[in-house]
Amino acid sequence: MRVLTVFVCLTAGCFAQKPRPCTSPPLLTGSLSLGSADEKLGAFAKFNYDALRQRIRLSEFGSYKNKTFQFDVLLLYKEGVMYEIDKRNQACTKKPLSGDFHPLAIPTNASLLGQVVLGSSSGPGQGLLVNTWVGELQMKKEMAKYVSTVTEFGCVPVTTLFHTNTLGWVVTNFFNNVLGITDPELLIPPPFCKDAQLEEEDERDAANFFSLF
Ligand SMILES: *[C@@H]1O[C@H](CO)[C@@H](O)[C@H](O)[C@H]1NC(C)=O
Ligand SMILES: *[C@@H]1O[C@H](CO)[C@@H](O)[C@H](O)[C@H]1NC(C)=O
Repeated sequence: MRVLTVFVCLTAGCFAQKPRPCTSPPLLTGSLSLGSADEKLGAFAKFNYDALRQRIRLSEFGSYKNKTFQFDVLLLYKEGVMYEIDKRNQACTKKPLSGDFHPLAIPTNASLLGQVVLGSSSGPGQGLLVNTWVGELQMKKEMAKYVSTVTEFGCVPVTTLFHTNTLGWVVTNFFNNVLGITDPELLIPPPFCKDAQLEEEDERDAANFFSLF
């Protein structure tokens, strides 16, 4: 009888819980790399993410259509502004930030593609248990498809594949994540931004680009 109970328990998953859509930690510091399938875009960024106060700082360098770029931006969604920060020249431009803040999360209507161990499950510290989810999102202009992988424990982002007709497939890999904000100052406009005047929005692309994040 006891054997049967144990068996039922195993098959019914007494120990393993069914993965559920989840929200990533509200405060995260880390790095990410971005690449598009058409090889036009490749970038590396350090990020500070604060979902509580809806602030993101991204210091990024990369290349787009064979041209290198570098930028350092502070996105303040509650205030609807973004600062482009040029530390070396102590210069700053302030622009309107349209669009809503999207917290790092697996949408509740996502479908589970599977649960796997990245690396190996044969020894301690060799593997990472992750869940992969797929779904669709209605963006401003078009539908987007996503495939998102997060850790089973902690819902820390690992990889996101994002597809729209205009961008094609874009892959984002997250790494070296630390829970919390390691340098709070990075989420406050630096002193030399104090006098920056709000400029007219000229590049819609920028806002679209950040919606990837
Ligand atoms: C980028 O440069 C490579 C090699 O120089 C070239 O083959 C490719 O066509 C270029 N791509 C674009 C989008 O200009
Ligand atoms: C899930 O919800 C989003 C918006 O909330 C919607 O655009 C999408 O079509 C829904 N369906 C799937 C399968 O993701």
